Amino acid sequence: MGEESKKWVLTVTAQTPTNIAVIKYWGKRDENLILPINDSISVTLDPEHLCTTTSVAVSPSFDQDRMWLNGKEFSLAGGRYQRCLKEIRSRACDYVDEKKGIKITKKEWENLHVHIASYNNFPTAAGLASSAAGFACLVFALAKLMNVKDDLGTLSSIARQGSGSACRSLYGGFAKWIMGKNDNGSDSIAVQLADEKHWDDLVIVIAVVSSRQKETSSTTGMRDSVETSMLIQHRAKIVSVNYFGRNFLGGFWIISCVEKWNRSEESPQVAYTFDAGPNAVMIARNRKAAALLLQRLLFFFPPHSDADLSSYVIGDKSILQDAGVKDMKDVEALPPPPEVSDKIPAQQYKGDVSYFICTRPGKGPVVLCDESKALLNPETGYPK
Ligand code: ADE
Repeated sequence: MGEESKKWVLTVTAQTPTNIAVIKYWGKRDENLILPINDSISVTLDPEHLCTTTSVAVSPSFDQDRMWLNGKEFSLAGGRYQRCLKEIRSRACDYVDEKKGIKITKKEWENLHVHIASYNNFPTAAGLASSAAGFACLVFALAKLMNVKDDLGTLSSIARQGSGSACRSLYGGFAKWIMGKNDNGSDSIAVQLADEKHWDDLVIVIAVVSSRQKETSSTTGMRDSVETSMLIQHRAKIVSVNYFGRNFLGGFWIISCVEKWNRSEESPQVAYTFDAGPNAVMIARNRKAAALLLQRLLFFFPPHSDADLSSYVIGDKSILQDAGVKDMKDVEALPPPPEVSDKIPAQQYKGDVSYFICTRPGKGPVVLCDESKALLNPETGYPK
C-alpha cells in the first residue's frame, strides 16, 4: 500500500444504554459462549443518565488492534474482546466512500486493525452493568464501521459473547434475552418486548452505596452458585414465572425502608432489585410514587450536612422538584414517613449512600454524528 493510501482514517461513534434486569440472569450453561440457564428481562435505562460512548476507527496505518477505556490503554487480549472482534469482522461488507477515495472490500477488513476508545459516564465495574453497555456499544459501533448488514438479534448474540447482559442493551425500552436451546448459542439472542414509551412514567432510582470495583466478579459469583447452590437449578426452572429479585446482599436498610412503605399501602409502590454489587435499584410505578420514595430516601439517607444536594441526587432532577425538595434545608425539614411515625429512627444512615441516580426507561443504541462527541481524533484515529 502506498504512503498516501496509508493516511485515511474512518471513524464511527456510538452511544449505548445500560440495562437493569428485573428477571435476573444468574448462572451459565456454557461459560465460553455465555449461555444462560434461564431467560431474563430488563429495563433499558435512559442513556442521558447512564451510558457508554465508544468511538472506533480503522486505518491502514494502524499496526495492531488497540483499546482505551475511560482514558487509559486497556488490553484487548481477553477472549471476550477477541471473540466480538472476530465475529464482527467475519460479517463485514464492502465499503465505498467515493468522496474520500476509500474502498474496503469484505476480504480487506480481515487485515485492517482498529482503534477503540470507550467511556462510561458512571462508575465502571460497580455493579451498574458497565460491561453490558460497554460490549453492546463495542459491537454496535464496529458493526456500523464495518458495514455489517445483520439485524439487531444477530448483533445481540455477538454482544452476549462479550458480556451476557450486553445482549439486552441493544434495545430501548424493555428487552428479553431468550436463553435458547442450541449448543452453539445461535438461538440465545435478545428481543425487544416494548419500547421506552410503553411505561413512560416508570422511574428508576439507583442508590450508589459504593462505586468501588466489585469484590467478586459476576462470572465468579455465577460459577460458585451453579457449583455449590442446591437451589439454583430450581430457581432456573421457576424464574420465568414471576420473580422480582429479593436479595439481601446489600442495601439492607433500603430494603427495610421500601418494604415498610409497601406494606402500609394498598398495593406495592416500589420494587427493588440488586445486581452483583451492593447498589440498590428501586423501580417506582409512577412519578408520584417516585417523589414519595425520594422523600423517604432523603429522610433516612440524607447527605452530609455540608454536601451539595445537586450532586447527591443526579439524573432526572425533576423528581426532586416533585418531592418538594430544593435544598438542604428542605431535606432537614422532611417529616418522618407516616408508616414509621410511632418509632422514628431519625436519619440514622447519614453517609451510607454515596449518591442517588434518578432515571427512566430509555432508547437503544445510536450513532453520534456530532464530531465533538467522538473520543478518537478523526485525522489520526488516536484518543483526543
Ligand atoms: N467493560 C466495562 N466498561 C466497558 C466499556 N465501555 N467497553 C468495553 N468493556 C467494558
